[in-house]
Amino acid sequence: MQQILIDTDPGVDDALAILFAMLSPELHIEAITTVCGNAPVAQATQNLLTILSVLDLDQFPVIAQGEAAPLVKPLVTAAHVHGEDGLGNISQLRNADGSLLYRPANTEVSSITGIDLILEMAARYPDELVIVTLGPLTNIAKAIRKDAPKMRHLRKIIVMGGVFEAYGNVTTTAEFNIFVDPHAAHEVFHFGVPVHIAPLDATHQVVLTGERLHAEVDKRDSPVSRFLKDSTQACMEFYRQHVGFWGFHIHDALPIGMLTHPDYFESVNAYVQVETEGTLTSGMTVADLRRERQSSNPNAQVCIKVAAEAFLDHFFERLQ
Ligand code: RIB
Ligand code: CA
Repeated sequence: MQQILIDTDPGVDDALAILFAMLSPELHIEAITTVCGNAPVAQATQNLLTILSVLDLDQFPVIAQGEAAPLVKPLVTAAHVHGEDGLGNISQLRNADGSLLYRPANTEVSSITGIDLILEMAARYPDELVIVTLGPLTNIAKAIRKDAPKMRHLRKIIVMGGVFEAYGNVTTTAEFNIFVDPHAAHEVFHFGVPVHIAPLDATHQVVLTGERLHAEVDKRDSPVSRFLKDSTQACMEFYRQHVGFWGFHIHDALPIGMLTHPDYFESVNAYVQVETEGTLTSGMTVADLRRERQSSNPNAQVCIKVAAEAFLDHFFERLQ
């Protein structure tokens, strides 16, 4: 059983990734920390509680709220993609009697900070804990700043973020998680703990169409499937209008799949740097991924290829 901490900015694709992880028996989701990103961190924390309410849990991961602002840059959120509430506006859905269709789970948010929960878990599971980051890397960078010796004992950090040989999704050159906090990404990538990156180059290979999603949802009638349908409508409409297809990329599900079915993913070693000051290129991840140029001192593995259809089948096998 792999000991996992998820750091997240839910976020519609974060929601699907969290459900995927919680429904994967290989993984023990010991703790979940929230970070500012798709939504302000207080909203992200409320969204996490709502996501967990969809599952019939008798035991919850420890939850703690993380940083409200990036290390240096002003916060940029993504309501235009994920809805005003960050979860596809499901907070507007009502039952016939007018009550909320989706309510936060009946569990506590820890009184300690996200950073302190990360450090507590790193100390509890030395050389075993894997941190999966689904949002900006602010919490991880601040945990390293606060207690680097503890963080050195992380087994691995799996990062959804960056883009290398394709266009960005915020600017031409930058992917959202790195764009929001490039300084944090720089510090994490150069800290020395093994880093495995799932960039847009990989996540864009997985195309979840609205037709496929609805077909899968219609096969089941479960709280998870109903949440899948309800939470993704706004995001898929954004994609229809701005990306060119009705559906979306389940970016954040890939790091989870890299743990549950690693054989579906191919990666290369690389020396990854982050542009933190560029006027046009702030948040750009820079690495030479050509096999003949593989770095002699790599600081990360970068996923470059996904068995997309097999991964989607695996994803839906879990989200029942
Ligand atoms: O660029 C995609 C990433 O940014 C995903 O993690 C999405 O949830 C947003 O946080
Ligand atoms: Ca995210």
